[in-house]
Amino acid sequence: MIKVLITGGAGFIGSHVVRRMVNSYPQYHIFNLDALTYAGNLENLKDVASAANYTFVKGDITDAAFVQNLFAQHDFTYVIHLAAESHVDRSISNPIAFVMTNVVGTVNLLNAAKHVWSGSFEGRRFYHVSTDEVYGALGETGMFTEETKYDPHSPYSASKASSDHFVRAYHDTYGLPVVISNCSNNYGSHHFPEKLIPLAIHNIKNNKPIPVYGKGENVRDWLWVEDHARAIDVILHKGKNGETYNIGGHNEWKNIDLIHLLCKIMDKKLGRAQGESAKLITFVKDRAGHDMRYAIDATKLKSDLGWVPSLQFEEGLEKTVDWYLSNQEWLDHVTSGEYKKYYTDQYEKR
Ligand code: NAD
Ligand code: DAU
Repeated sequence: MIKVLITGGAGFIGSHVVRRMVNSYPQYHIFNLDALTYAGNLENLKDVASAANYTFVKGDITDAAFVQNLFAQHDFTYVIHLAAESHVDRSISNPIAFVMTNVVGTVNLLNAAKHVWSGSFEGRRFYHVSTDEVYGALGETGMFTEETKYDPHSPYSASKASSDHFVRAYHDTYGLPVVISNCSNNYGSHHFPEKLIPLAIHNIKNNKPIPVYGKGENVRDWLWVEDHARAIDVILHKGKNGETYNIGGHNEWKNIDLIHLLCKIMDKKLGRAQGESAKLITFVKDRAGHDMRYAIDATKLKSDLGWVPSLQFEEGLEKTVDWYLSNQEWLDHVTSGEYKKYYTDQYEKR
């Protein structure tokens, strides 16, 4: 039995990776290790919770002794590490949490793998899931390749860059079999509504202002989350140790253009007159250190491993809107309690 540890599996991307692995590999046993922070939600995994090849483990990757014990107890063949503090805005107000989970937590996992796997690395793999934000910001042209120099600007991206460096250092120093991928912005179902797309859907539905930072000129490269999960599957099984793979959608959008498209889709879905939702667009104070443009060159992933995105953005965005409109209960649960305080601090006191 191949045991696979997925960290952060109750979060947005992690839940899609867990679902894919549980359903596609009945011969694997999938362990989902998650601390269930504000971003972790077991409702994301209701459909696989009782699968015979799935186990949820509640735990914190910053707890070194706990992580060591877990690795000693289970002989994991693969680790897919997604657990992280992932929200740039939160990293601006509380950087230490990002250092703890993203840096210390990653090193705890690397240490445990090195210790427990010691001497028998054959067939093992430590897969670190990272972000394109480590490369910094682009001007009007160019794309991030795997060779682009790291130049992180936010505490979030600095912590992810640091974790990437540790992962490579464990490969170069101890021979740990690692692989890293750096992905662009994901969108899709189960996305926590602090991030732009689900936040905008939620606000449009409730006739609340859609906060657009600065002039909305910043550009992001959007990828459907299930395409990211598929890329992770491909890289886990076919990637080469010590390599980095960029993952992206070849799908750049200025924030303001994306919001207009979303408003158009929402008008149609909610039976509103065209142009009605766009009246909610509200320009607010910009994010500090706001990176202007991200764009991923995913040529290596295509040419070496044959992965390409499957979905056009307009279709994916419509599917995403449909999911949010038919999962009001999920949205109600995640937007009660702590979310309200976050929202007031972030937007109403801005
Ligand atoms: P998310 O914030 O939705 O989920 C993070 C998960 O990690 C949550 O379930 C949370 O409970 C868990 N977690 C946080 N701290 C933990 C700790 N100390 N111990 C154990 N579990 C902990 O994040 P996401 O958007 O799904 O991102 C997942 C990974 O992918 C992250 O590593 C992120 O940097 C990376 N990434 C995200 C995107 C994106 O667009 N969202 C793009 C590229 C890369
Ligand atoms: O590029 C990959 C990264 O994408 C991941 O590593 C991060 O984990 C993920 O959160 C995401 O980071 P961003 O900062 O790009 O995502 P966010 O949804 O927070 O913001 C997207 C863009 O929208 C960004 O330019 C900021 C802007 N924005 C965001 C919010 C929340 C707004 O204009 N208004 C908002 O209210």
